[in-house]
Amino acid sequence: MAEDAEGVISFYDEVGGRETFARLVDGFYRGVAEDEVLRPMYPEEDLGPASDRLLMFLEQYWGGPTTYSQQRGHPRLRMRHAGFHVNPDARDRWLLHMRRAVDELDLSPLHEATLWDYLQRAAHAMVNTFEPTGIGPTAGGRTTTSLPLNPSTDPPR
Ligand code: HEM
Repeated sequence: MAEDAEGVISFYDEVGGRETFARLVDGFYRGVAEDEVLRPMYPEEDLGPASDRLLMFLEQYWGGPTTYSQQRGHPRLRMRHAGFHVNPDARDRWLLHMRRAVDELDLSPLHEATLWDYLQRAAHAMVNTFEPTGIGPTAGGRTTTSLPLNPSTDPPR
């Protein structure tokens, strides 16, 4: 259990550290794997690498290891999602799978409310189009299917 300079234990440690976040992300991706709208959005055949990125991000956000930024740089999540068709339907599906995964964690009511509040706000902030799934370009008339995930290291697509 790691305390910061003021002796404060992070939310990350309070809820059980890596094991808890790994369970959250595993549960979430089990739902995504079966989702006919979300699954095709993931560029890779294997959901494992996407799952690792989400795990690292959430760990960092809640006060755990900062591996995400070491490997991926600044999160810039809105920008990284700009190439994906995130409409309200996709958001609601994302939240449905997260909700189920959060429920499986059996957190205390305060921890659960804190986590869920954040996930809802983040998911609402990620919406970038109101076009129905499969119709029209995503916001801004983008022509690519996704932006380079890490512009500083990835080759241009
Ligand atoms: C609202 C619906 C959302 C949809 C449909 C969605 C979909 C996606 C897709 C298709 C990817 C690419 C997979 C990959 O290669 O990593 C991705 C990446 C990612 N998403 Fe989301 N996402 C949503 C919301 C969120 C939210 C709310 C968060 C944070 C709380 C989040 C965090 C991430 C992270 C950290 C990555 C990896 C970024 C990187 O490349 O480093 N997403 N998302």
